[in-house]
Amino acid sequence: MTVGIVGLGYVGLPLAVAFARAGERVIALDVDGQKVAAVGAGESYIEDVSSEELRGVLGQIRATSRYADLAQAQSIIVCVPTPLTANREPDLGPLTSSARALAQVLQPGQLVVLESTTYPGTTRERLVPLLEESGLRVGESLNVAFSPERVDPGRTDYTLQNTPKVIGGMTDECAERARELYSRVCDKLVLVGTPEAAELTKLLENIFRSVNIALVNELAMLAERMGIDIWEVVDAASTKPYGFMRFEPGPGMGGHCLPVDPFYLTWRAREFHMSTEFIELAGKINQQMPVHCVERIERALNDALKPVRGSKILILGASYKGGVGDIRESPALRIMELLAERGAVLSYHDEFVPALPELGLEHVPLEPAASEADAVVLVTAHPGIDYRALATQSALFVDLRGVTRGVDVANLVRL
Ligand SMILES: NC(=O)c1ccc[n+]([C@@H]2O[C@H](COP(=O)([O-])OP(=O)(O)OC[C@H]3O[C@@H](n4cnc5c(N)ncnc54)[C@H](O)[C@@H]3O)[C@@H](O)[C@H]2O)c1
Repeated sequence: MTVGIVGLGYVGLPLAVAFARAGERVIALDVDGQKVAAVGAGESYIEDVSSEELRGVLGQIRATSRYADLAQAQSIIVCVPTPLTANREPDLGPLTSSARALAQVLQPGQLVVLESTTYPGTTRERLVPLLEESGLRVGESLNVAFSPERVDPGRTDYTLQNTPKVIGGMTDECAERARELYSRVCDKLVLVGTPEAAELTKLLENIFRSVNIALVNELAMLAERMGIDIWEVVDAASTKPYGFMRFEPGPGMGGHCLPVDPFYLTWRAREFHMSTEFIELAGKINQQMPVHCVERIERALNDALKPVRGSKILILGASYKGGVGDIRESPALRIMELLAERGAVLSYHDEFVPALPELGLEHVPLEPAASEADAVVLVTAHPGIDYRALATQSALFVDLRGVTRGVDVANLVRL
């Protein structure tokens, strides 16, 4: 089988490698010439795929930027970005331009699966009409399905293979074709009746996380006022064997999914005269967290008789989560911006993020920056650093991730 993958980012590249490893031929397409060149040269730019792994299957992968090459594929999986516009409305630009380009090259009998996260109705109302400009008809000469990606970057226990994959086809035959396709790389497939059900499933999963993170963040702010250690509370509540699921407070939500995807549903809900209150409230609380964290840092410095202006502050971790270099929507950036506005002398340590040009900063080695800093602020806990030791050695250590819980020293402040 030949599988076409459109969009070689965090979702598309691992998928291309998975199909290639399963012995399929892969046509890997991106409009970004640098990515096409990198894939062609066996150089991975995604942490979840090592260059060795990519090179091991390069014989199976043909990287291209020409949509015409997809005519040879039996199945085409679309993994293009679905961001928000400046007004926080869905930006389906990449999706529609990809669908228009596909319509020029589609062949009878092909299957097109959309994996990009989006609002319910996108596949049927936006993707299908554009694909049908090819002259092919869904259910007759073309199959179309939606199957959300569930990848959690940096995670190794749950992979594409052992994470059940949800599929919603435009027709039963479409769903069956998609099931057959994904059974080559996934152990368990979950078929739902429509693409809309599959689209909403993905949003439910993301909204569930966003709302629960907001809940525990709100409690963290309250616990701080009450003088209660929120981490002790979360640890204790997590001992309940049923009816509770652990979520951790933190400096705010980052990454491409949680700060963005729920607003696709908010936007769509307006057409149905509904306002999605949980989503809005969770967004509001989570967006407030970097501001709260900066106030916490400011107060901690104040207690040490130091103003933020002129203080040397070392930020640990600029990406949005440990073990990855993705800085999209990272709360660390917002925290650094706010501290810079207040006149802090900033530096950051993050081996996954070599430079932050917009802030005019480059990654610095941990030492001597940590010993020279007036405050060391742990925003994102990458593996390989002894934070607990660092917390006791620093002039002031602000832990926004709870990794120092149990440590009780005067210079340590925890969210
Ligand atoms: N990153 C994640 O962890 C994750 C998880 C689940 C779902 N998703 C969803 O998957 C989709 C893709 O996310 P991602 O993180 O891989 O994005 P990404 O930005 O890493 O990659 C998308 C790729 O698509 C390419 N592209 C843009 N327009 C194109 C076009 N018209 N034709 C061909 N290629 C085009 C871009 O150049 C880019 O390389 C999004 O809808 C996202 O919400 C992402």
